[in-house]
Amino acid sequence: MNKTIVYSLVAVAGIMLAIITFTIQDFNKTTEPDIVKKDGVIYVDGQIPPQLSDLFPDQEDGPHQKYVDEKSCLKCHNQEMTIPGMGLVSKISHEFRSDCVSCHLLPSKAI
Ligand code: HEC
Ligand code: HEC
Repeated sequence: MNKTIVYSLVAVAGIMLAIITFTIQDFNKTTEPDIVKKDGVIYVDGQIPPQLSDLFPDQEDGPHQKYVDEKSCLKCHNQEMTIPGMGLVSKISHEFRSDCVSCHLLPSKAI
């Protein structure tokens, strides 16, 4: 048999194997985070969600004081930006998850 044909077949088989492996991996990947509660601490995929800091201690209903909905949080956290007088706002570091304050506890819910 022609050497080129043999090499091509090996290459094609390799590519197929890579595609199959990749597809199986994708199916096994869960999009739901693994949430564990232990001793009152929430762990999400092994990480502790940072608690909300009191952005405006002198204000009753500041952006971190009261939860309205995801959209109101993402007004600031959809992108990294600097708000004058407030500082750096970090971009949400994970995929969209609903009910933000189920993990990021409000300052009033301090543990
Ligand atoms: C007006 C803009 C604004 C809104 C709205 C806002 N944040 Fe923030 N957020 C900030 C700023 C500024 C910081 C950085 C605070 C610091 O560095 O001390 C921050 C920090 C954080 C942090 C890191 C921990 C911390 O507090 O330092 C998390 C988590 C967070 N915000 C989640 C949320 C959630 C959830 C909501 C909705 C309830 C929300 N943010 C609404 C401006 C905002
Ligand atoms: C299932 C729990 C969970 C939910 C719900 C959740 N988060 Fe988070 N969040 C985490 C964890 C854990 C981290 C820290 C590890 C990481 O970056 O993934 C984090 C990190 C962040 C950070 C980065 C904080 C920093 O200091 O850099 C921001 C901003 C943030 N989340 C905003 C939000 C917003 C806004 C929502 C709602 C739309 C939300 N989160 C919903 C668990 C959650």
